[in-house]
Amino acid sequence: MIVKFNVTELLKDSYNRVIRDLRVSLTDRCNFRCFYCLPHGEPPMAPKEQMLTYEEIEQACRLFVELGIEKIRLTGGEPMLRRDIETLIRKLAALKPAGLHDLALTTNGYFLPERAAGLKAAGLDRVTISLDSLKPDTFRQMTGVDVLERVLAGIEAAKAAGLTPIKINAVIVRGHNEAEVADFAGFAREHDLRMRFIEFMPLDSGHDWSRADVVSGREIRERIEERFPLVPAPVRRGAETSARFVFADGAPGEVGIIAPVSEPFCGACSRIRLTADGQIRTCLFSTVEHSLRDCIRGGASRPEIIDYMRSVVLKKEPRHFINDPDFRQPARTMSFIGG
Ligand code: GTP
Ligand code: 5AD
Ligand code: SF4
Repeated sequence: MIVKFNVTELLKDSYNRVIRDLRVSLTDRCNFRCFYCLPHGEPPMAPKEQMLTYEEIEQACRLFVELGIEKIRLTGGEPMLRRDIETLIRKLAALKPAGLHDLALTTNGYFLPERAAGLKAAGLDRVTISLDSLKPDTFRQMTGVDVLERVLAGIEAAKAAGLTPIKINAVIVRGHNEAEVADFAGFAREHDLRMRFIEFMPLDSGHDWSRADVVSGREIRERIEERFPLVPAPVRRGAETSARFVFADGAPGEVGIIAPVSEPFCGACSRIRLTADGQIRTCLFSTVEHSLRDCIRGGASRPEIIDYMRSVVLKKEPRHFINDPDFRQPARTMSFIGG
């Protein structure tokens, strides 16, 4: 049975931010080795019995949707490494009548050529695909794999399957791909895509991040505008991570600049995360986690699980502390947390 709570019962944190966006990591594993995320060998994998099953993920998502979550994003690691995610997508798509508006997937694109159409048929609305370079050499050097052509084919397959709007994520890192920023904007125009440029955040497993590696949102915009003048997109930003722009000459495509380091957007944050091993993280940079898995497996009743979810959300941090002098990188890297 689906119970819809009224507005006063939505998930809200102690800073009055309403939580509408749940990001669920399906696995810590990845078939790429992007250096800004997971460069140093195989990560310690959580034992299988600690991973949430699809039934448990569905149960958690159903309760979250009843509490007002409208967007669910499946991430990883590479979520398509988890067996038969189409089954999970079908279960989650069934939450649409209960208030889920948007079911999305973040992927490295490797498996899309064969599976994009099946994902759409299972009920997925859209995909976000990581693409850090349009040059084969830089792509290989940033991701550890020589598969640029395959990812480009994956983008085409996603488009053909109607997994739109398709967003492309590029993490811009000094000395690697900052010279390609305007090329990426050209790529967005040519293929009618939403190209997003992301500032490098201190979430890499090598703990090699340094402020000098961050290419600021401002510089990214300047680099694009040297070739393609932009105008702000006519949208309200709300809780979105990106500042959105369209091309001044009316060309197709869009540009989004995600600048969490130089222009934090925590004040409007509506996100919480569920890790593959069932921990709720209230912020990308949380240093503590909350075991929804133990709560569910401990036999808690439905009202008890809901109470637990509410109590965890109340602990959501006000913001990240990347720019504070005593900032400490969280122990888990992006590959565990989910992008
Ligand atoms: P949609 O608007 O639904 O497409 O989602 P999104 O903008 O959250 O996009 P996506 O999931 O692709 O996230 C893009 C990137 O933004 C992530 O890979 C992270 O690098 C960054 N990001 C996402 N959420 C947060 C967040 O809550 N805080 C910070 N600091 N960065 C985030
Ligand atoms: N900084 C910024 N974004 C990152 N991602 C992974 N690691 C980092 C990082 N250190 C993002 C990429 C990728 C998504 C899964 O996570 O955008 O597309
Ligand atoms: Fe939200 Fe934390 Fe991201 Fe800030 S850093 S936007 S509080 S998840």
